[in-house]
This record gives sequence, structure tokens and C-alpha cells, in this order.
Amino acid sequence: MSERKIHTTQVAIMGAGPAGLMLSHLLHLAGIESTVVEIRSRRDISHTIRAGILEAGSVDLLVDSGVDNVLRNGHEHEGTEFRVNGEGHRIDFKGLAGSSVWLYPQNEVFDDLAARREADAGDVRYECSDTQITDVTGKPRITFTDSAGQDWELRAEILVGADGSRSYCRSQIPESDRTRYFNEYPFAWFGILTEAPRSAPELIYANSAHGFALISQRTDTMQRMYFQCDPTTNPADWSEDQIWEQLRLRVNGNGFALKEGPIVDKVVLPFRSFVNTPMRHGNLFLAGDAAHTVPPTGAKGLNLALHDVKLLFESLDSYFKSGSTALLDTYSDRALDRVWKAQYFSYWMTTLLHTVPGEQNHAFFRARQLGELRSLLESEHGRAYVAECYTGWQGK
Ligand code: PHB
Repeated sequence: MSERKIHTTQVAIMGAGPAGLMLSHLLHLAGIESTVVEIRSRRDISHTIRAGILEAGSVDLLVDSGVDNVLRNGHEHEGTEFRVNGEGHRIDFKGLAGSSVWLYPQNEVFDDLAARREADAGDVRYECSDTQITDVTGKPRITFTDSAGQDWELRAEILVGADGSRSYCRSQIPESDRTRYFNEYPFAWFGILTEAPRSAPELIYANSAHGFALISQRTDTMQRMYFQCDPTTNPADWSEDQIWEQLRLRVNGNGFALKEGPIVDKVVLPFRSFVNTPMRHGNLFLAGDAAHTVPPTGAKGLNLALHDVKLLFESLDSYFKSGSTALLDTYSDRALDRVWKAQYFSYWMTTLLHTVPGEQNHAFFRARQLGELRSLLESEHGRAYVAECYTGWQGK
């Protein structure tokens, strides 16, 4: 075995997903050192298909820090369509909330940040193993073996857990010092990538008696679509015909038909709402999925993570420049303020648009849901509420 090397840094970051890399990039611009430790390979992270919507605030964070591919390769969406039983209703984000969102897949955000960290000679260690954390309430230490087999001890003043929904960092917080909030849903999403042209200029969130569907996009020739399914569904059991049949049933109608093509990826995504509070324990700070997950309906996951990172960066910058812990001390409360708004919105949008087949009083539930959708969509107030939440509470 090789002799363990010691490396000292200001901020140790566990996890090189978009949250960890964004934080490391912002710290670098402010002259604060960080080391990022990641167990997956760069290729693995880059090839993980995730959601694709960025709020304007997330785009600003990237662009203002000089990571601006999103402006060239992303697509601005000034609205979206809610389709109810085949009838479309547009939510005009620009007109109702004065804001928009950008379609730019999470793996592109990762690629941009990873390339930028590399260009800036950032210390990002992919493919690490045997990671162990000690002393998170004092001076955190992380031991790990790097991809070349070298053993390391990383010593830091602050440890950031940006290590995703199965966070190892989170598990280091004693049960007695944290509260976990959890909700599971009786459905999942069946997601596909299909080689087809765009079916519509904007995303379509469809509610129908057959269940929910979402028509999203990737490029001119590749589209992302989802439909509500049973959580026990095995994607391999589903043929292309069966998949298209479900999507047609839920979305087509009134002269509108989806553009279909070969399906190149199939996946079933579980639906969960989860929050770990507080988002701090001693000198360990959690960010992104490590602290909270939302169901994908409101497209909030990555946006919440980037918002955490923005707050955490400002708090760390203030701490390292002035020695003041004032912002670090309120980080968790300030982050959770938005987390719970997003939890509520994601939960509400999920129950608004999905059907619950096993519901005891299904007929009542469905008729009530259609009543809710009509009251919402016929009201400018209702549509403005969706626009404000979906675009990310700009200015709030
Ligand atoms: C996606 O494009 O993958 C996507 C878009 C909107 C959502 C969820 C996922 O609400």
C-alpha cells in the first residue's frame, strides 16, 4: 500500500455533480481553494440523463460566472402548455411572471462546469474510492484512494456534502441532530429518449383520464418524453408500440399528434419528496439532492441545488474574507425557505396533473381534479401562480 499523502484546502466538496462543481468554480473565482472528491467517473456523470429545465436565476448564475454555453446551445421557453383531455392551455411565463426558463439538459451543465474547472486547473478528483469522513464538527478530514490507487487525507476548514440523494455526508449527521421529512407517491415516470423532431415549440404537461404525460425536448432530432406509470414497472417489459400507445392516449387530440420515432433510452424514475433539516452540522454543509429531493414535475431539482450553492458560496466568501460566521449560521434556514416552497409547488403540480388509479373514490378524485384544473386555467391569477413558481420566484 502507498503511503498516505496529506492535502490541506479551505473547502472540501464531496460530489462533482453540477452543485459541487458550481460551488468549486465560484470559490475559485473568489480566490478560495477547494478540492472536489467524487466516486463516479467524469464519463458516468456526463452520461446520466437528468432533467432539462433551468430557471432564469440558474442561467444567470452560470452566465455571470463565465459559463455561458447555455446561451448558445440552450433554448429559451417563454411559456408551456397544460393539456387537459387533449385541449391545450398556454401558460405565458413572460406575460404573467415577466420571466422565462431555459431548456438545457443537466448533463450539459455538468459538461460545461467540468470543462471550465479543468481549464482553470481545478482540483477535482473523479473515481475515488474508500471515502471516509471524520471530525465534521471540528476540522473535517476526508480519507480516500484516488483513481491511481494513491491514498489521501484531505484536511479542510469546511466540508460541503453535494453528494446526491444517497449522500454519504448526510449519513454522518447523528439521527438525534436531524429531522427527515419524506413522502412517497403511488406512481413513477416512464422516461424515453426518442429520435424524432419536436412535436411542439414548448413543453407539454398533459393530464388525461389515462394518466399524466410530459413532452419535453432535447435537440432538433432528439426528444425526451415521460408518462406516469406504476412504480414497479420494468422498462424492459415495454415495447415501442406499447409506449407510443400510452403517450398518444394521453396527449394526442384536437388535431394534435405527437411526432414519433425510434426509442433509444427507457428508464423508470421513482417519485419522492424528501428534506433533511437542518442543512448543516458543525462544519458540514449540505447542498442540493444531498439535503432534499423533489418529484420531477416542477423541474425544480437542479434549480434548487444551484440556489443552495449560490447561498452557500456567498456565506463561505463572507466567512473566508471577514471571518464572520453570520451568513454561514443562517445558510440552512435561508436555503430551506426556498426548498419548502419548491416542495409545495412540486407536490401540488404532481397531484394536480397525475391520476391515482387505486384511489378509493376515484370518480370523485378525477372530477374534482378537472374542476381544479378548470378553475386554475380559466383564471389569470391561477395561470400567473404557475408561471411565478415554475420560473423560480424571480426577485423573491
Ligand atoms: C426534462 O426535459 O427532462 C424535464 C422537463 C421538465 C420537467 C421534468 C423533466 O418537469
